[in-house]
Amino acid sequence: MVLMVCGRWLAGVSVPLEAAALLQGALAAALSHWRGLAPWWLPIQFLFPIASMALLSLDLPPGLFLVVFVLLLGLYWSTFRTQVPFYPSGPAVWEAVAGLLPQHQAIRFVDVGSGVGGLVLDLAGRRPESTFVGIEVAPLPWLASFLRTRSRRSSGRFIRGDYFSLDFARYDVVFAYLSPAAMPALRDKAKAEMRSGTLLLSYEFSIPGMAPDDITWPDPGGPALYSWRM
Ligand SMILES: C[S@@+](CC[C@H](N)C(=O)[O-])C[C@H]1O[C@@H](n2cnc3c(N)ncnc32)[C@H](O)[C@@H]1O
Repeated sequence: MVLMVCGRWLAGVSVPLEAAALLQGALAAALSHWRGLAPWWLPIQFLFPIASMALLSLDLPPGLFLVVFVLLLGLYWSTFRTQVPFYPSGPAVWEAVAGLLPQHQAIRFVDVGSGVGGLVLDLAGRRPESTFVGIEVAPLPWLASFLRTRSRRSSGRFIRGDYFSLDFARYDVVFAYLSPAAMPALRDKAKAEMRSGTLLLSYEFSIPGMAPDDITWPDPGGPALYSWRM
């Protein structure tokens, strides 16, 4: 819009909407490149105005946009702050985590950022003598995990909140599937609070400056599962 107005006022040319969208996409991609954003942002930035135009031309009911916005808000919530989006781990990871847990004692386990709760529900089913907790900041995945634990009558428990409010000293095993941006703060919290001899696990993302004691690959050729004995 600004490009169209500027074109008319400054140069006396009327810029067609399609050309303005292309120009805006190119400008956004160039700015992203200049500010050093990851390369995958460039096509997103370029295509966004064009995709928006195409969507508007479908003349969809405005309420639909509100519904989609609320759903995405519930799913991603404070990703802009945590830098950790939602994506669930799968059965191969759950199996590998189960194999790393201390075997002959009841344990307290927490999944920090538990998403829709798959890991906690799986482990709670395997180890009824132990306590499995998930904590999730985004309301929609938390609600899904809460409803799943109710419908399965699982002993797994889900807290809605930020894992920084938890005391890691209460757990024998802390599992994280977060993002590279979250690892330094997780490392500091784990070092400050976890008891000696307890286990910190991270799927896919290692911890800078902290060599893992063990690395396994749940899926051949897939991401690693790192473990640290504290
Ligand atoms: C990659 S998903 C992992 C989900 C789950 N652990 C699994 O294995 O399926 C990461 C989740 O962590 C949540 N998360 C990110 N930062 C958080 C925080 N500070 N406290 C609680 N949850 C957080 C995100 O909302 C997201 O659902």
